Formats: sequence, structure tokens, C-alpha cells
Amino acid sequence: LQTHGALQRTDVVGIISHRGAAAIAPENTLAAMRFAIEQGVEFVETDVHLTADGVPVLMHDPTLDRTTSGSGEVAAHTLAEIQALDAGSWFGPDFAGEPVPTLAEFLDELARSSVRALVELKGEWTPEQLTAATELLRARGMVNRVALQSFEVDTLTELVEIAPEFARILLTREWDATTVEIAAELQVSAVGARAKLFDARPELIGQIQGLGIGTLVYTLNSQRTWSEAAERGIDLVITDDPVAFAAWRDGI
Ligand code: G3P
Ligand code: CA
Repeated sequence: LQTHGALQRTDVVGIISHRGAAAIAPENTLAAMRFAIEQGVEFVETDVHLTADGVPVLMHDPTLDRTTSGSGEVAAHTLAEIQALDAGSWFGPDFAGEPVPTLAEFLDELARSSVRALVELKGEWTPEQLTAATELLRARGMVNRVALQSFEVDTLTELVEIAPEFARILLTREWDATTVEIAAELQVSAVGARAKLFDARPELIGQIQGLGIGTLVYTLNSQRTWSEAAERGIDLVITDDPVAFAAWRDGI
């Protein structure tokens, strides 16, 4: 993952293990991250929200209800309150007591490996909050190990100013007339979308790649969809199950 380099694979579709390895361990916990890292995936993906006291923690949803023993908004709870919650029991008894990790704890885990990460900044971030998060990444030596992804064009635009050395990924829920233009202006390393969005506009794959930008699709969990992505020339696939993906890819 080079600074400003495209997230592109030329030979075979690459793997991004989603929310750690969401099919195998509770999403966005260190148990899920460790599993993905031990599998030697190319990239592990995670989501970050800020606590009420401004600490980045690994959580997908804006609320605590689905994946922890707590309830209410992540942003309305302090780190201490969130760290007291159980983020594993909902997935299965083997994971009872798994805490919600901080971004710093995740980076410590990542640093013990050579796996690279996609960190998705969820929700809205102020320039000060982005500065603090990217300083943490820099301090942990993550400039060429972590790409920052967001659905928010404003967040990516701020990152160009605040931390241009980090690779950026534009996530999009729809194609509009300016999406590819915005990706080029922001000098992103990849554009990510649901497979059905690329199915509707397959010509965009070549257009994006022609700009030196990679393509990634989320979230695909079957051999049929992995094959379709590979046939389309998609660079990277996000999957919840890195073990099944690796077995499929080894067989093609
Ligand atoms: O990396 C893209 C993908 O993770 C976006 O979807 O909802 O799983 O964060 P979501
Ligand atoms: Ca995500």
C-alpha cells in the first residue's frame, strides 16, 4: 500500500477481511482481528466511531444495541462506559466478555504482523478529530499500512489537507455524474461500492482503473459472487469469511 498508489491487483482478486472476520468472530473485536491477521489476509477492514470523550473505538453501528450489552448512541457514552460492555456474547458464548477495542489497541495488534488495514471513518469528523486520529496512526508507524476509507466526501477532502500521506478510499452508495471525477480529484487509491452498483455500470470498472485507481466491492460471501467479481476485473473483494475466500482463490 504505497502512498497515493492504487489499490490494484493485476493477477488475482485480493481479499479484505470485513470487520475483522465477521463470519468467524464477533465483528470489530480483537478476537476477529487476530483471526484475520493469523490467516495472513492482505487487508483487514474495520470501522471507527468516536466516544463521547473523543476516543476512536471499533464499532460499525452508531448505536451500541446490536453488538454489545449496552444501548444508545456510541457518541453519547464515554470510553470507560463502553469498555465495560460485552461485545462478544451476542455472537456466541465462546466470545463472552470480548470488549469493544480502541483504535489504538487494534493498531497494537496490527503492528505485530505485516497485515495492512482499511479503517473506515464512520459518521462526521471535525478537522481536529481527524488530526488526532491521523497523529495516532503516524505515531504507530501506520502511514504505509493503513488506508482511510469513508462514504463522506467531506471527510476525505479534509484528509487531503490534514494527512495527505495516508491512502484514501472513496466508498459510494450510488453513481452520480461526478463520482469518478471526485475520486480522481481526491486522488483516492480505490473506489468501493456494492457489487450490484458495479453490475449496473460495469464500464466504470475500466474507467476507474484507467485513472490508476483500484476497485473494491463489499460484502461478498459466496463463491459465485467472488467469481463474478474476478471476471469483472474487480481488484479487491471484501468478505466476512477469509478462510472460505482463500480456499476458493487457491483453487482457481
Ligand atoms: O469497506 C466498505 C464496507 O465495509 C462498507 O460497508 O456497512 O460494512 O461499513 P459497511
Ligand atoms: Ca466498513
